[in-house]
Amino acid sequence: MFLNSKMLAVCIVALLYVSGVRAQNAASFKTDKVLLKKFEGEFKSASAQYQLLAQRLKPDRFPKTYYAKTDSLETSNSGWWCSGFYPGTLLYLYEQTKNKALLTEAHRILKSLTKEQYNKTTHDLGFMMYCSFGNALQIAPKPEYKEILINSAKSLCTRFDPKVGCIKSWDSNKPEFLVIIDNMMNLELLFWATRVTGDSSYYKIAVTHANTTMQNHFRPDYSSYHVINYNPETGAVQQKRTAQGYANESAWARGQAWGLYGYTVMYRETKDKKYLDQAQHLARFILKHPNLPKDKIPYWDFNAPNIPNALRDASAGAVMASALLELCKYADQVDGRTYYSAAQTMLRSLMAAPYLAKAGTNGGFILQHSVGHIPQGTEIDVPLTYADYYYVEAMIRYKNLNK
Ligand code: GLY
Repeated sequence: MFLNSKMLAVCIVALLYVSGVRAQNAASFKTDKVLLKKFEGEFKSASAQYQLLAQRLKPDRFPKTYYAKTDSLETSNSGWWCSGFYPGTLLYLYEQTKNKALLTEAHRILKSLTKEQYNKTTHDLGFMMYCSFGNALQIAPKPEYKEILINSAKSLCTRFDPKVGCIKSWDSNKPEFLVIIDNMMNLELLFWATRVTGDSSYYKIAVTHANTTMQNHFRPDYSSYHVINYNPETGAVQQKRTAQGYANESAWARGQAWGLYGYTVMYRETKDKKYLDQAQHLARFILKHPNLPKDKIPYWDFNAPNIPNALRDASAGAVMASALLELCKYADQVDGRTYYSAAQTMLRSLMAAPYLAKAGTNGGFILQHSVGHIPQGTEIDVPLTYADYYYVEAMIRYKNLNK
């Protein structure tokens, strides 16, 4: 069929309109070429650090943190909530450098992690199994990884209670059903499981959990509580409190980061606009907060009592950077650029002193100055595996956005 000139004109106008609307909505980002180039060196030095870390690990042990004063590496078994980050980081770095030693080490440690697919005592299976086997499936797939991940999703779902509308985070002997904001990070595994199996029950559980959390975990300013204690019989909220933050009513920095990342994933997986709105509200809370320092690496709690002398939490900064580098793709031009630019500042900060460790130091961890659990007095101002994981992920996201 031939187009007459009138039809051709209509088509051209329509095309121009569609591309104009697209250009108006999607943000375009100004690449910092120097930063991008630095990443290549950074992937190599991070790989060297992780090979150093690997040398110190005993069989079946996973890195937890490192204490410079005593030159001691603290490790865990595979059941610790962080066991997926070390293999996940090795795989990310292998993807970037093609250094085979990293893949060999990832294979070794994944073997020790495999049994956790049947662990029904934790809600952290998303962190443990999706950051590890999920990355492995993308980067260096083996047929058995799918089954391991499906079993992990099944184990996670055993902790879902329809009365409460949530996956239980922590077990308790008291009549309480405890859910923490961190749990938003475990839902990505469930979306994957529905995609692969065609069974929508995983998807429905993830959506129900996210909706219940949206209803109960957030304050009017969109900061989040850490822990919600539900009545296991009725599903009613019986307490809102913290465990790892400064106070029940404070905004624990990593909790804000988990929420931001979690609702960004919710939007990616469902395309339901209410999750995008939620993620943007959370981003605004973080980025406009008067206590967010200039380098955009947050204090461990936005309401820590001794700001500006409070400790920073590099892990929260790394999670936020990675989340913002995804959220910027879904937002309009103005907001997208704000998120991108904030993430860029976070990455520039993390890539320099005092956060980035000098080669050969820090027990092989990449970043310094994270905070695990101040109220409990553990992992204070130390390196942590999840700071490294989300830092490397953020660099990869930045690089991929600029391809
Ligand atoms: N509870 C996991 C965290 O420390 O963020």
